[in-house]
Amino acid sequence: MGKIILTGDRPTGRLHLGHYVGSLRRRVEIQNKGDYDKMFVFIADVQALTDNFDNPEKVRQNVVEVALDYLSVGLDPSKTTIFIQSRIGELSELTQYYMNLVTVSRVQRNPTVKTEIGLRGFGESIPVGFFTYPISQAADITAFGATHVPAGEDQKPMIEQCVEIVRSFNRIYGETLVEPSIILPDRQACMRLPGTDGKAKMSKSLGNCIYLADDAQTMHKSVMSMYTDPLHLQVSDPGHIEGNTVFTYLDAFCSDEDFGLFWPDFSNLDELKEAYKKGGIGDVKIKKFLEKILNKELEPIRARRKEFEKDIPGVYEILRKGSEAAEEAAAQTMSKVKKAMRIDYFDDKELIEEQQKRYNG
Ligand code: TRP
Repeated sequence: MGKIILTGDRPTGRLHLGHYVGSLRRRVEIQNKGDYDKMFVFIADVQALTDNFDNPEKVRQNVVEVALDYLSVGLDPSKTTIFIQSRIGELSELTQYYMNLVTVSRVQRNPTVKTEIGLRGFGESIPVGFFTYPISQAADITAFGATHVPAGEDQKPMIEQCVEIVRSFNRIYGETLVEPSIILPDRQACMRLPGTDGKAKMSKSLGNCIYLADDAQTMHKSVMSMYTDPLHLQVSDPGHIEGNTVFTYLDAFCSDEDFGLFWPDFSNLDELKEAYKKGGIGDVKIKKFLEKILNKELEPIRARRKEFEKDIPGVYEILRKGSEAAEEAAAQTMSKVKKAMRIDYFDDKELIEEQQKRYNG
């Protein structure tokens, strides 16, 4: 069995550094190492509509934003099939069949769904489409036979639920679907990158994001406003690392090489942390160091975005071609599923012959 990579993002806004360290950076690494047989990355507009059904224009406008972010981080359409979820009708078809294999209480227990229901203030009025999105996500994954899903920690319950669906399907209808596993970020700090205000998550509504598409000036402002250590009032005061957002970002982005490039007084992050804890290093200095590291990483991304922005029809053409290729792959799985579920009537000559005989002796 081959190694098939698949993952996606909801088009509800531009992608930010949380997305980048949580999964985007990893996807590009995998793609460029060539360590896979097929790779699919998609824009989850169907899923975005589950909680934005009343604001379709938002989803529509953000499809191209996410596509531009994908291309600018280095996803390469000649290596990775980039597509739009709603173009693949098979995904809805599969979802329908998987719904039979999942109980209402099982979806209710999904921790990510639980949190999101709370966040969106649905109360007792949970749209069925939103409630069942983990099932639709299982369709996204299995339609392409994905073996590996690079994603953030919040997607773990989704993958677990997908594995359960695969197991029940295979038990009831025979070995057909592939069990996926999640590829989590390798650094702890990348699991849930806090916003610049130190709050648990980057979110548009909190205004605490650094977007991949931000220019250097915008990012400068964000970095300079970052939450650090409220007890570190004087440069000479001992500083705290725990809960200090700038250090969390350094944990997520910094490598030893960056010290050689930008701060040769230290040779690695541990040394810098020790010095900061003792006192004598100002927050602005640390922020400037972080800013240099981020600019080094983001400069090529910004430049590529500028190029792709010049040719929006070209971007849509990439999505159209990707969607066509993805549709072919999903159709193959769909026909296996129909066969396994005994709903492949016209493809089963034996069924027709046998019934003909039964009725006619
Ligand atoms: N749930 C993902 C998000 O919040 C998007 C998504 C939809 C996805 N289907 C997927 C991710 C399948 C990985 C695999 O952005």
